Amino acid sequence: MANKDEDRLLAHDYDGIQEYDNPMPRWWLWIFYATILFVPFYYVAPGFMGEGPGMVAEYEADVAAHQAAQPPAPAAMDDATLLAVLNDKDELQEGAEVFTKNCAACHRADGGGLIGPNLTDAAWIHGGTPGAIYQTISAGVLAKGMPAWDRILKPDELKEVAAYVMSLKGTNPPQAKAAEGTVDSTAAAPAPPGN
Ligand code: HEC
Repeated sequence: MANKDEDRLLAHDYDGIQEYDNPMPRWWLWIFYATILFVPFYYVAPGFMGEGPGMVAEYEADVAAHQAAQPPAPAAMDDATLLAVLNDKDELQEGAEVFTKNCAACHRADGGGLIGPNLTDAAWIHGGTPGAIYQTISAGVLAKGMPAWDRILKPDELKEVAAYVMSLKGTNPPQAKAAEGTVDSTAAAPAPPGN
C-alpha cells in the first residue's frame, strides 16, 4: 500500500496545523462498503417487509406474555376470606404498607380523607361490607378519580389493603373529612362509637 503521494502535505494550514493527503486504508473502505451492501438486507429482514416479527410485534408479544403470567386480581372476594386477612397481623401490616404507598396521597395516611373520602367512618358511598370495599378498590370509581387497582396491585396486596381499610373503621383520626354516603348497617366491622 505504500504510495509516494502518502506523505504529501496538503496546501492548507489551520492555525499551524497541516495534514497529509492520506487515503483511508483499504481494509477500512472494504468494511465500509460491506456495511452499505448489508443495508438492504438489514432493512428488509426484520419488521413489516420480511422475516421476523419486528420490534413492535415483539414488544406486544412480551406485554401479552407478561399479562398472561400475572392475571389481574379477582374482581370480587368473599367476606370470609377478607375477614380472615383482617385477623392476620402480618397480612394487615402488609396492607398498611400498601396503603401508605398507594392510597395515602388521596385518602390521607390515617385514612381520614383528602381527595378521596374518609375511610374511617361508618358511611360508605359504595358499600361497607368487606366484599364491597374490596370491589371498589379492585375496579375503582374511574369517573370520580378513584383508580382501579386490580392490575396495579398483586392479588394478595389487594386483599391486604382491603382488610387494612376495614381495620380503619372507627379510628376517628383528627380533622377527618365529613362522612359521605350512607351508613352501611350490613358492614362487618363494628361501627365506631357515637355513629
Ligand atoms: C388519585 C386519588 C386516589 C387514590 C390514589 C386512591 N383513591 Fe380511593 N377513592 C378516591 C376517590 C376520589 C374516591 C371517591 C369515589 C366516589 O366518590 O365515588 C375513592 C373511594 C374509595 C373507596 C370507597 C369509599 C366509599 O365511601 O365507598 C375506597 C374503599 C377506597 N377509595 C380505597 C382506596 C385504596 C385502598 C387505595 C389504594 C390502594 C385508594 N383508594 C387510592 C381517590 C383515590
